[in-house]
Amino acid sequence: MRIWAKACWIMSSDPGDSTTTKPLLALDGVYTNYGKIRILRDVSMSVGRGEVVALLGLNGAGKTTTLRSILGLTPPRAGTVRYDGHDVTGWPAYKIARLGVGYVPEGRRMFKDLSTLENLQLAENARGGEWTIARVFEHLPKLNELRGRKSGRLSGGEQEMLAIGRALVSNPRLLLVDEPSQGLGPLIVEDVYRILTELKKTGHSILLVEQNALLALRIADRAYVLDSGRVVHSGPAAELAADQNRIRTLMGLEIKV
Ligand SMILES: Nc1ncnc2c1ncn2[C@@H]1O[C@H](COP(=O)(O)OP(=O)(O)O)[C@@H](O)[C@H]1O
Ligand SMILES: [Mg+2]
Repeated sequence: MRIWAKACWIMSSDPGDSTTTKPLLALDGVYTNYGKIRILRDVSMSVGRGEVVALLGLNGAGKTTTLRSILGLTPPRAGTVRYDGHDVTGWPAYKIARLGVGYVPEGRRMFKDLSTLENLQLAENARGGEWTIARVFEHLPKLNELRGRKSGRLSGGEQEMLAIGRALVSNPRLLLVDEPSQGLGPLIVEDVYRILTELKKTGHSILLVEQNALLALRIADRAYVLDSGRVVHSGPAAELAADQNRIRTLMGLEIKV
């Protein structure tokens, strides 16, 4: 699987300007443990600038652990994580976040006793940038309506939007989004994916973790599939979306259309 990551690197490389043409994010041979238990094994993948990459796999495959490895929350035991020209392997999470990596965590974790607005204010990047709270409210008017409501009283879909808004006000160049459709009804899932599609159109780079393969493949450019901590498939998203038998083989029967 390292070959695919390297191929992407080579395809996008231009010796004239290596900082802008190398992938924004590249994992190479990453091994990550929880204590003595090895979870990720030789994981290599990349996300190019402006690219949406789906990271698929069944429950327990190691998707969240991959995001935690990138973010420095569970640092890899071996291998490297490169982000925007920096080898960030082993860096503390706050430093990696400061480089412009935004995180929309699984389960949306937020300060439930704080209002929508207060959650956004806590996350807002003091250095500023194109995403201000006003701009988030413009793009997600529902959040503006709910600005005074405690986030613990928002619905699952509203919380997911707040989690995305909160990541955006830190003005990330790369967004790591973990299972945005989890626990949401189909209409709300459409809303959340509409926002992700808009972010894609405006050139944001996204690593999108999903169990719902077909949903993520609709907006992704490329996809990786993890199984038991290993990358078992990588390639163009459209190719995988068109081959449901392959998805079934890779991900068992958990296909939701
Ligand atoms: N904090 C932890 N301590 C020990 N094992 C963990 C921990 N978090 C996750 N795991 C285990 O690591 C494996 C991968 O988990 P995870 O990355 O959360 O998978 P996914 O996000 O694909 O569902 C699972 O077997 C899970 O039980
Ligand atoms: Mg997970």
